[in-house]
Amino acid sequence: MLIRLEHIEKTYGTPEHPVPVLHDVNFTMEEGAYYAVMGPSGSGKSTLMNILGYLDTPTSGTYYFEDVDNSRASDVKMARIRNEKIGFVFQSFHLLQRRRAWENVALPLMYGNVPKRERRERAEQALCEVGLKDRMDFYPTQLSGGQCQRVAIARAICTRPKLLLADEPTGALDSRSGQQIMDIFDGLHERGMSIIMITHEHAVAERASRMLHIYDGVLTGGDAE
Ligand SMILES: Nc1ncnc2c1ncn2[C@@H]1O[C@H](COP(=O)(O)OP(=O)(O)OP(=O)(O)O)[C@@H](O)[C@H]1O
Ligand SMILES: [Mg+2]
Repeated sequence: MLIRLEHIEKTYGTPEHPVPVLHDVNFTMEEGAYYAVMGPSGSGKSTLMNILGYLDTPTSGTYYFEDVDNSRASDVKMARIRNEKIGFVFQSFHLLQRRRAWENVALPLMYGNVPKRERRERAEQALCEVGLKDRMDFYPTQLSGGQCQRVAIARAICTRPKLLLADEPTGALDSRSGQQIMDIFDGLHERGMSIIMITHEHAVAERASRMLHIYDGVLTGGDAE
C-alpha cells in the first residue's frame, strides 16, 4: 500500500484555544491510484495535503507511506522523503520568477545533488512530457498561466516521485488551460503515477478513480472508514 492513514487528527491553536481541523481521517491508497479530494473552503483539504506531503505532522494518528510510519523521522529525513518521493503542484504555481523554465524544473534535482548537465537533460525531458520543450529558456513572466502550471507539473515529476499531490491545480486557470492540465494528469496517471488532487470542480474530480469528500474535517469515501 502506498498510503495508509489511521485515525489522523489535526488540531491547531493552543491547549486553551484548540482549533480542531481533521477528525479521525482514515483511508488507504494503492500505488498508481488517482484520488480526488473535494470539500468546502476551510474543511481541511490543504491541511490533509500538507500532512500527506510531510509539510506538516498530525496531532495524533498514524500515517504510513510505503508501509513505513515516518512520524519519528528527523526533519532532515522528512525533507529527503519529500524531495525524493513526493511532487507538489499548487494553485498559484510557486515558480521562481528569475529562473528560466528549465531551471525551475531542475530545482528539486539541485537539492538532490544531481550534476548540472543531467539536471538540464532531465528538466528537458519533463518539459517535453508537458508539451513545453520549446519554452525551456523562457522566464515565467514570458509564459501564460496554463504554461506556468505545466512548468510546475514538470518540476513536480522530474524527480520521478512516488506520489503527486496537487492542491487545486486548475483553480487559477481559464477552462481551456484547466482542461490541458487535466489531460496531463490523466496521462501521468495512465503511465502509473499515483495522484491525489484537491479540486472544487466536479468535472475535474470525475476523472479520478476515487472521490473523497471532507466536511468539517471529517473524510468520507475512503475505503478504510
Ligand atoms: N496554521 C494554522 N493555524 C491555525 N489554523 C489553521 C492553520 N492552517 C489551517 N487552519 C485552519 O484549519 C481549517 C482548514 O484549513 P485548510 O487550509 O485545510 O482548508 P481548505 O479545505 O484547504 O480550504 P480552501 O478550499 O479555502 O483552500 C481552517 O479553519 C483554517 O483556519
Ligand atoms: Mg486549501
